[in-house]
Amino acid sequence: MKKSICLLPGDGIGPEIIAQGVKVLEATAEKFGHEFTFETALIGGAAIDGAGDPLPEATVSKCRGADAIYLGAVGGPKWDNLTPELRPEKGLLRIRKELGLFANLRPAMLLPELAGACLLRSDIAAKGLDLLVVRELTGDVYFGEPRGIETRDGLRTGYNTMIYNEEEIRRIAWVAFETARKRRNKVCSVEKSNVLECSRLWKEVVMEMHREYADVELSHMYVDNAAMQLVRDPSQFDVILTGNIFGDILSDEASVITGSLGMLPSASTGAEGPGLFEPIHGSAPDIAGQDVANPLATILSAAMMLRLGFDMAEEADLIEKAVRKALADGYRTADIMEPGKDLLGCKSMGDKVVERL
Ligand code: NAI
Ligand code: MG
Repeated sequence: MKKSICLLPGDGIGPEIIAQGVKVLEATAEKFGHEFTFETALIGGAAIDGAGDPLPEATVSKCRGADAIYLGAVGGPKWDNLTPELRPEKGLLRIRKELGLFANLRPAMLLPELAGACLLRSDIAAKGLDLLVVRELTGDVYFGEPRGIETRDGLRTGYNTMIYNEEEIRRIAWVAFETARKRRNKVCSVEKSNVLECSRLWKEVVMEMHREYADVELSHMYVDNAAMQLVRDPSQFDVILTGNIFGDILSDEASVITGSLGMLPSASTGAEGPGLFEPIHGSAPDIAGQDVANPLATILSAAMMLRLGFDMAEEADLIEKAVRKALADGYRTADIMEPGKDLLGCKSMGDKVVERL
């Protein structure tokens, strides 16, 4: 099969990890007789420096023309003092919005090969962890208007708007219920309806949608409790359905209890057009350019691209198996290092996965 992939390496460790993912995709294509073509475009800080805009029009059109988008990460201290509209992160928010990528799927799993890196107490870890955060991606405080910083009554005042309409809630709830049917049939909707009107509507609409999914078990949890339950007993969760900001926070938490932020992939999909696949972590400026970043979240995002974007389940399985084999063989990057294991850099870890394909 022929597929075109638009690469958005971005900033910080972005280019390093995307290079490893591309190696894995090329090796997979060769093995299965596919032809993947790659085109690179600018986003984030790299685009600000190169084109004066965190999301140049040329990038949007390249993305629209591709079969899938593969993104590293954006942002870094170099651009921290820019106004929100011009910051690298705005490029990422805008591409998600422009392409209608409202559903962000973030699976978190405890891999037996990584048991030594898991932060959970052993009796809790023994119960397992295999959950999927279904995070709404194009609404909430990240996009809500009005927003800004202004002087009110002589005081600098910052404000944002948490906002969802019922259609936005329905379509993400639909994704969660449909996905749960293919998993363990449980959805936990996470919000803060005890204090937020936006969450009250969220809960109401999710309950309405549930009438069409009576076979799926639905529960509701306030986000503060959910943050606690994730550490206390993560095995209770199957699909966590939540909004943009709560999903952002809870998925970082879910990642690190399984081992590292550097392990978690994600897929962002919408109604039509190409999906976007990226690790959940950021550009990690503290370790950029040192060849020490963990490329596995990015490589696992490539597996999600093949499975969900191209309907290539066998190819995706093979990549995931190769990652697990590399871990089983004792290879580790610094973030998941354990005593007695082989410490590798970003590039060498990519090579170990390719060898195991
Ligand atoms: P971060 O996710 O970049 O890093 C948090 C911590 O995790 C750092 O100590 C980092 O070294 C470590 N880490 C992250 N990915 C790793 C990997 N693959 N291997 C090993 N260690 C890893 O979040 P932070 O530091 O809050 O933000 C840094 C920049 O990234 C900011 O400009 C932020 O806005 C941006 N960001 C971008 C995202 C994206 O492009 N999707 C998501 C989150 C943050
Ligand atoms: Mg995040």
